[in-house]
Amino acid sequence: MIQKVDLLDLAFSMPKTELHLHIEGTFEAEQMFEFAQRNNIALTYSSIDQLKQAYSFANLQEFLDLYYQGMSVLITEQDFYELTMAYLTKVHAQNVVHVEIFFDPQGHLERGIPFSTQINGIYRALKEAESKWDMTFKLIMSFLRHLSEESAFATLEQAIPHLEKIYAVGLDSSELGHPPEKFLRVFKACQNLGLKVTAHAGEEGPAKYIWQAVDDIKVDRIDHGNRSLEDKDLIHRLNHEQLTLTVCPLSNEKLCVVDDMSQHPIREMLSHGLLATVNSDDPAYFGGYMNENYQALIEQSKITIAELKQLAKNSFNGAWMPADKRQKYLSQIDELFAFT
Ligand code: HPA
Ligand code: ZN
Repeated sequence: MIQKVDLLDLAFSMPKTELHLHIEGTFEAEQMFEFAQRNNIALTYSSIDQLKQAYSFANLQEFLDLYYQGMSVLITEQDFYELTMAYLTKVHAQNVVHVEIFFDPQGHLERGIPFSTQINGIYRALKEAESKWDMTFKLIMSFLRHLSEESAFATLEQAIPHLEKIYAVGLDSSELGHPPEKFLRVFKACQNLGLKVTAHAGEEGPAKYIWQAVDDIKVDRIDHGNRSLEDKDLIHRLNHEQLTLTVCPLSNEKLCVVDDMSQHPIREMLSHGLLATVNSDDPAYFGGYMNENYQALIEQSKITIAELKQLAKNSFNGAWMPADKRQKYLSQIDELFAFT
């Protein structure tokens, strides 16, 4: 019991980064209804409670159907700003000191919302958090993999005037049937522009998709990566390349990627030396932000103090942040865990 209290206390108080977060997945039902009302958009759910009752998913696609519906009430730059600020305020209170945020421009462009409206609102909130709290950040533009390569190229074109605000590109949405190789050329174009690349792989899709992301696309990290555990050679390769995995425990549970939190593979990942990190993915839909993800691992997966420390360090070593800040936070973690 004492051990459990100490672990929770440590997890909550330690500095954290969030490396896998879809800003549209932070849309709390209350805020969604507020925006729907002020933008005069009818939601298919008649109340906040009714909407929340729909948060039960058998797989990724069932979640995505609701996620795209939810984001349809984001219209103005102020909406994107307030959505992002609400998220940053919450995680600042959880000692998150660095965030790397995905946004899905195609999910808004196809509704007629200009690229500049989206990015300017999100970016304004990030800059405000930076000046108020010294929170550092990177913005990641994600391509929707169920759409075509042509659509991804058209989106990249829209991003060109905003490149100074974008650090990396990602790949999300329905994984099965949409392997990373479908986007090989557009990712090459992004790399030629100096952008870092990450891709969701091995969440529902096979280890083969992770191989493609590593071998063909030459990603800088892997989002999820759960199914890498099925392939010893792949584990070896991920370790050799020192690629960080942005793992999302509560997401995995809610989307039935794992049977049960007690079966979560993050401890096995660590035991193989994989650079696993803890992240929240779509916290408004999956039942928790950073602290709640750590809490689930502590209470249900029984992670040890040594594993908690490793996860904390991995999250800073895998972050795209200035070296001096990284060092400062790694030293803080060493001090916090010095008694162990
Ligand atoms: N997987 C794939 N696409 C997504 C997710 C996810 O967990 N969340 C938002 N888009
Ligand atoms: Zn994700």
